[in-house]
Amino acid sequence: MNVVVVGAGYVGLVTAACLAESGNRVVGVDHDPARVTLLQAGGVPIYEPGLESLVQRNLHDGRLRFTTSLAQALPEAEAVFIAVGTPPLEDGSADLQHVLAVARQIGQHLSDFKIIINKSTVPVGTAAAVEATIRTELQARGVDVPFVVVSNPEFLKEGAAVDDFMRPDRIVIGIPQSAAGEQARVALTRLYQAFNRHHDRTVWMDVVSAELTKYAANAMLATRISFMNDIAQLADCVGADVDSVRRGMGSDGRIGHSFLYAGTGYGGSCFPKDTRALVRCAQDHGLDMAVVAAVEQVNARQKQKLLAMVTQAFGQDLSGIKLAVWGLAFKPNTNDMREAPSRPLLQALHERGADIVAYDPVAVREAHSALAHDCGSSDWLTIADTPLAALDDADALLIVTEWKCFHNPDFSAMALRMNERLILDGRNLYDPDLLQSLGYAYHGIGRRNALGVQRLQEPRHPLLHHHRWPEPTSTPPAALVD
Ligand SMILES: NC(=O)c1ccc[n+]([C@@H]2O[C@H](COP(=O)([O-])OP(=O)(O)OC[C@H]3O[C@@H](n4cnc5c(N)ncnc54)[C@H](O)[C@@H]3O)[C@@H](O)[C@H]2O)c1
Repeated sequence: MNVVVVGAGYVGLVTAACLAESGNRVVGVDHDPARVTLLQAGGVPIYEPGLESLVQRNLHDGRLRFTTSLAQALPEAEAVFIAVGTPPLEDGSADLQHVLAVARQIGQHLSDFKIIINKSTVPVGTAAAVEATIRTELQARGVDVPFVVVSNPEFLKEGAAVDDFMRPDRIVIGIPQSAAGEQARVALTRLYQAFNRHHDRTVWMDVVSAELTKYAANAMLATRISFMNDIAQLADCVGADVDSVRRGMGSDGRIGHSFLYAGTGYGGSCFPKDTRALVRCAQDHGLDMAVVAAVEQVNARQKQKLLAMVTQAFGQDLSGIKLAVWGLAFKPNTNDMREAPSRPLLQALHERGADIVAYDPVAVREAHSALAHDCGSSDWLTIADTPLAALDDADALLIVTEWKCFHNPDFSAMALRMNERLILDGRNLYDPDLLQSLGYAYHGIGRRNALGVQRLQEPRHPLLHHHRWPEPTSTPPAALVD
């Protein structure tokens, strides 16, 4: 099948590459000339495991091309995916300017029947707006060309996007009840056949329901995270361990284990903007989505958590304090810094005078540009070449992103480099008892923070006798609440 995918970002590029890999002829269209030039040369502008080799193979085999010109790509296409960004506006609603710009271009160049597939995450009613926009352009040209607009929201996860696209849990497609809608059903059944071989994962529905499904799914996942962050806050107060609670809860088949991790808050390009857009969409219909609104509030509080732990340990003035930060990207396996919890944290630590040395396996250039955007400059941020190198003379280690390489580090080697054996773990990676036995003061999120963060007494660990360390206490947990 001949397919055009407009937008060569996380969703569009993965869609284009995976559809090409399954034998379709795909043209990726992006209005960013630098991005297109890079892609034409086999480069990939984003970090996504497995994507580069997929792009290069399909470029080489001639199934995948890139261009800035939708007008040139359109005539041969049977289906056109819209996969451009829908960033948040000031009031929380989704900015549809890119989606509607693509719709206008389609209307200006449409010459025969096409299936227009909206893959961007958009509020309910956007397919209708896309259809109206295309119609207005056709009327301006004085022509009547048939087309159909369907909704096919994307559920891939950054960091596992290729895998998710190739082996989806479900493929949600909303089609109108019309002859053109039925044509779309036949074409999309064929297009997605390669991803449905094991069993049919397609969930067919009407267009509006498909649009709402995407927002509802993201809001539910975000709700689970914020719910656990609330439980973690209480766990800190009562001396419970949120990770034990998580395992106990998750083994209930009705609840399951996914997305029950307390931490330093969710970020990324989806959960924050989609929860806000859902609340805003409800307001437009006179409704108050109290649960989803609270999810966002809890997340905003949670993003302050590591900062509160640092200031509780060292006071508000952090000048002369050296902090090592592991992880900058909003989650592992991506270089995406959109709404990453590291951003407000690092900005606040820098404003309080801390020296910061960070390590992230991939999101270095992106972190510098995000922090330069937030703070005016990012010269103050030192990036280490390895996780261990970030620890030299550090007064504390802050874990912000749960990259795999942080899961089982050499705690003895770490201790030799650190000035103080203090770990503030925003992702609950470690066993508090183990760290205590190694002489670390360890604070997770809701992890029975019994060690306290008071500084500093004599070292407990024989390897570390030249340092001074916090003494473990058996007193009730020091609740690290804001
Ligand atoms: N990133 C994710 O994990 C994810 C997952 C599911 C759904 N989504 C949704 O998919 C959509 C795209 O997200 P993304 O993360 O891929 O965005 P992105 O910012 O990574 O990519 C968008 C691309 O579209 C291009 N673009 C914008 N306007 C254009 C136009 N008029 N013509 C041609 N190209 C244009 C941009 O240059 C950019 O390369 C959003 O609605 C998002 O909410 C994202």
